[in-house]
Amino acid sequence: MLPYNIDHVAIAVHDLDATLADLHTQYGVEPVSREIVESQGVEEAMIAIGGSNLQLLQPLQPDSPVGRFLVKRGEGLHHIALAVPDIDAALEHLAGTGTRLVDTEPRVGGGGHRIAFVHPAALAGTLVELVEGTT
Ligand code: CO
Repeated sequence: MLPYNIDHVAIAVHDLDATLADLHTQYGVEPVSREIVESQGVEEAMIAIGGSNLQLLQPLQPDSPVGRFLVKRGEGLHHIALAVPDIDAALEHLAGTGTRLVDTEPRVGGGGHRIAFVHPAALAGTLVELVEGTT
């Protein structure tokens, strides 16, 4: 099971508009998409950079996974997303290696993609998201 791309690197922020403005000033980049993902309690923006993306996550309310992350750890790196061709096969492979998963079954994330999270305890405290079928 080899991921074939880093789909995105996600940063948790307090203020999506302010951070997008900073990115525009600093790097001249614009978001390619922006959406509210109720199921994850976030508003997210994607900024395409080369063959990958930066993803900014702003919580919709404090009592949400990203809201609690901000309280505990402040703004910063939230997760790394690896693109995989077949997320069911990837989860089965990881479970077979004894890797601790947050999601044993895929769910639907931003852009309608099937996603699943691997527990940060499995990789040096870093939350990993698997995303199916993006390049
Ligand atoms: Co993500």
